[in-house]
Amino acid sequence: MTLQCDDFTPHRKEHYTVGYCQEMTDFFQRRRAKTHAAFFLPHLRAGMTLLDAGCGPGGITADLAELVAPGRVIGVDVERTQVDLARALAASRGVRSASFQVASLYELPLPDCSVDAVFLHGVVEHLKEPVVALKEVRRVLKPGGVAGLRHGDWGGFLFAPETPTSSRFFELFVRLMIHNGGDPRSGRNQIAALREAGFTRLQASASHDCWTSTREETRGTARFLAAYCESVEFRDQAVALGIADHAAIREMSAAFLAWGEDPGAFAAEAWGEAVAWKD
Ligand SMILES: C[S@@+](CC[C@H](N)C(=O)[O-])C[C@H]1O[C@@H](n2cnc3c(N)ncnc32)[C@H](O)[C@@H]1O
Repeated sequence: MTLQCDDFTPHRKEHYTVGYCQEMTDFFQRRRAKTHAAFFLPHLRAGMTLLDAGCGPGGITADLAELVAPGRVIGVDVERTQVDLARALAASRGVRSASFQVASLYELPLPDCSVDAVFLHGVVEHLKEPVVALKEVRRVLKPGGVAGLRHGDWGGFLFAPETPTSSRFFELFVRLMIHNGGDPRSGRNQIAALREAGFTRLQASASHDCWTSTREETRGTARFLAAYCESVEFRDQAVALGIADHAAIREMSAAFLAWGEDPGAFAAEAWGEAVAWKD
């Protein structure tokens, strides 16, 4: 395998709606395998080679590396800043069996039939061509290898107390995602995409992640939602498309900070999960 090269230039980087503002990246880096990959853990064994595709800042990746050690984990992401963060996190945790590389899911830098497992979390939902990416996942899996997918479904997002301002934000987010070629209902649609990509043995499940388990977590969630409103990806794109103006976006950002202080605040993200085997 040629895993040392970090010079890969993805030829099909698409507009990623979520972006990379600090608060968003911190939010992703706090994710853990025991919560976000629970459905997939029974299928992992020590010694496996695992690819985490779209690994982001690597919170889950480092956990997966500990679980399959002495097997190797390869984390890939199209965004170099995320690869650097994932590499630094793994190093800070003393994880030596993980390597990271800038690469696209559309063109994985791995030979055919070379990995035992692939993990995909929150990435396929942002792709214009999910089936093409899933065919690429199938290509690199060994026969008998297993893929674990977990993707969001904004049709199941829970949020309280709802206000016209918060509802407007989530409506705009979904519109931007669709505009950028993503699928806000990927959680429920990924089974069909996996079948189209050639997977025939599948197991589905679903879960929610609560973003407001404690008052402290609620305030953190409010800060990241407020920061995202003001981010290049959300604000600038919504303004450029003429679907919101700066004043409306400032109002959304302030409304999230106020929501974070509401003792009744609740938010939970819905996820569709799938385990798929390559026969
Ligand atoms: C929502 S984040 C999820 C990160 C991580 N899997 C997690 O759940 O914490 C999605 C990540 O997918 C990456 N991404 C988007 N398109 C990609 C592509 N075509 N190939 C590889 N990574 C991609 C983004 O750069 C981003 O870091």
